Formats: sequence, structure tokens, C-alpha cells
Amino acid sequence: MTFQRSEKLFERANTIIAGGISSQIRRAERPVPLFFKRGKGSRMWDVDGNEYVDYVQGMGPNIFGHAPDFIVDAVREDIDNGFCLAGQTEHEIEVAELIRAAIPLQGLARFASSGTEIDQLALRVARGFTGRSKWVKFEGHYHGWTDTVLYSVHPPLDEAGSVDAPNAVGESLGMAPGSGDDIIIAPWNDLAALEAVFQANPDEIACVMMEPIMGNTNCIVADDGYLEGALDLCEKYGALLIFDEVITGFRVAHGGAQEFTGVIPHMATYGKSVAGGFPLSVLIGLPEIMERVSTGEVQHGGSFNSNVMVMSAARASLTHIAENPEGFYNDLNGRGLKLMQGLNAAAEEAGIPMLVQGIGSTFWTTFTERESIRDYREHASSVDEEKYAVFAEQMLNQGIRLSTNGRWHMSSAHNDADIAQTLGAARASLKVMAG
Ligand SMILES: Cc1ncc(COP(=O)(O)O)c(C=O)c1O
Repeated sequence: MTFQRSEKLFERANTIIAGGISSQIRRAERPVPLFFKRGKGSRMWDVDGNEYVDYVQGMGPNIFGHAPDFIVDAVREDIDNGFCLAGQTEHEIEVAELIRAAIPLQGLARFASSGTEIDQLALRVARGFTGRSKWVKFEGHYHGWTDTVLYSVHPPLDEAGSVDAPNAVGESLGMAPGSGDDIIIAPWNDLAALEAVFQANPDEIACVMMEPIMGNTNCIVADDGYLEGALDLCEKYGALLIFDEVITGFRVAHGGAQEFTGVIPHMATYGKSVAGGFPLSVLIGLPEIMERVSTGEVQHGGSFNSNVMVMSAARASLTHIAENPEGFYNDLNGRGLKLMQGLNAAAEEAGIPMLVQGIGSTFWTTFTERESIRDYREHASSVDEEKYAVFAEQMLNQGIRLSTNGRWHMSSAHNDADIAQTLGAARASLKVMAG
């Protein structure tokens, strides 16, 4: 495989686009951040003519694979009527109704374009509703790239502080001084630590925001009783529980992490899969909480909110899933589990300790001696990231495209042949690494 055209374009891009890429995570792709011509279903084709089975899938949004015909057709049909109307359409009501029919949390919706944006709205609503300013964030969780949330996602261990009461470590230059002052960082999966946070800050915490399944670090499903305990603590101390379902929503189950875990928060945010690859994000909150948004006391705006293309794509996606949700998610998670089992077997065969952890529709592969990882510290202290980068490059050379961080995204377009090809490549890659 050669990547000459991508290399040339990357060189050119670097002269005109900062870093040659548009989202930092893409920079780590080896041997070079690739330039693509096309994606369809489970596959992508780069500018050098290489074909890949793609498990990046837009970093998760493409739940049906690239460019599914039924979304392309729906958007095509609506797009002639305008793109950005700055007014309401019936589609947005239908999308909100489809979401309400799918998820356990029964509330009112607001739409925006990205997960980052919608998490900002959720925090503002929580503060506006409770009149409190502090909030609890967990180490290893990601809620977007803005100043108010880009703390302790993957902090260096020598800056992270104690396990029980971690420091809030900002992860970018240029963040506003004080932007982290209201954040209390807590360790994930540790109810006693969370209770201690509430005891130390009674009447001050507006909300606890969490990835209910920790998609940004090792795909960690919370211990039994943890989410229920966190909800109880929020209710006891008058704080709101916010599930950031930007990854889990419409990926792990029709009702997302709420259906998967049986725990229903006060607010939840959605992005990625909700519109099958189009840039839509959604906040759902209990009606009495969202009342502050309805009245305009909590401000929310956006020129692109609920634009025609996005709402058309979301309506088509959610309608498609609603035709047979059980079949859709059984199939998606089932294929993912099959792939996970195959990867485990390949690692065992090669004698390389590789942890495959997750729930089928999304999972992580990391190189660690651990048999499971249940919080950020276990990840940071044991995972060999360089080894994963070598694995990903080996896989790429055999036509399998993986994310740069270790997270895999299944789509309903991945078929048995894709899985067989992927496992063949994994066996060969791990053998080379073992050698
Ligand atoms: C859990 C979670 N929340 C929020 C975001 C931010 O979403 P976006 O990249 O659409 O701004 C992400 C992105 O990966 C995410 O994984």
C-alpha cells in the first residue's frame, strides 16, 4: 500500500490549514493523516485508491455506515426547499417525538449542532435551574473541547493529584483562567468518593455530568449499583444528574445508556448517531427543568440549529431504527461481540496481552496486562499507547482503518465478510508484533 497522494496533500494542507487537519485527534493517524475520496457502507477509499473497512465511522456518528441510501434520498428530497430557514419545520417536531418514543427520559428537547455545544447548554440549564455553580466531572470523561469542560480527560498522572480527590487539570493552552474553578473532579466508579464530594460542598453542586458508559476511556460499563447510587446522591443533595449520551445515544440501544443500564437521569445530551452522520445534537430535560429554556431565562441560540438537512437526516435515521429497534440493536451489538471475541482469540493466539473491552456496538482495544479497566487511573497506568499505534498502522496496511485512540465503532453496514477480513488482518498484525 502506498500513501503518496495523502502525503502530498498533507504537505500542502500544512501550508494553509493549522496542523493540516481540522480536529486534533486526526493528526495522530499513521503513517500520515489520510485524505479520502469516498465512504460507502462499511468501506472508505482514500486518494491513493486504497480501500478500507472503516471502524472510525466518523468517530461514531455513522451508525448505518457511510452514506446510507435512505438518508441520502431523504436529504436530497428536502434540500431543494432550502437549507437554513431560521424558522420551524414539522420535521423537528417529528424528530423530537421519535426521540421521546425511543428513550426512557420523558422531557422537552432543544437542538444544536455538536456534542460540545449541547453539553454547554446542559451545564447552563443545570446552573440556571438550581441557582448553583459547581459541577462534578469524572476523570477520563470527555464533554467537548470548550474551556469549561476540557479538564482531566486524560491528564498526565504526575499532575492528576490523589486518586480520591483528583486535581482539575486543564488540557489546552489558552483556556480562560478560572474556567475550571467550578469543576470538581471525581474518580469514576467510586460512590464513596462522590458522596464525599457532596458532603464537602453541600448546597453548591448544580449537577453531575457523566458518560454513563465511559466511551472516551476503554468503554467502561459502570459497576452494578454505581449509576443508581449517583442518581440517589444527586437527589439527596438537590443536584441534577446529566447523562452525556453523545456516544451511547442511539448506539448501545434504542434508548441508549438509559435503556442499557435502567437508570434515568434528569437531563441527557445526544449527538453523533442521532442523525446517522449529520451534525445534530440534542438536549432532553425534564419539563420543569427545561421550563427555564422555554421562558428564555436560560439563553440558547444557533443559526444552524434544526436546519433542513440535519432534521431530514435525523428523521430518516430515527424512523429507520424505529421500524425494528430490537432487531437493529441485537444485530449491531451481536456483530460487534463476535468481532470482540475474534480479536480476543487473535491476541491470545499471538501471545500478546490485548484487552478488548466494551459492549459490541462500541468497544476499545488497548495493550495492557490488565484483564479489565474500570477507571482512568487503571487505564493511564497500564496501557501502552505506542503499541496500539503500531497495531493500528499494521491494520491500516491491510485495509482496516481504526481510530487513533483505540475506540471501535460498529455500523449496521459491517457484514460477516468485513469481520472475517478484519480478524485475518488482526491475526497477521499481532503475529508481526509478537515477532
Ligand atoms: C461523550 C462525548 N461528549 C461530547 C462530545 C463532543 O461532541 P462533538 O465532537 O460533536 O463536539 C464527544 C465527542 O467525541 C463525546 O464523546
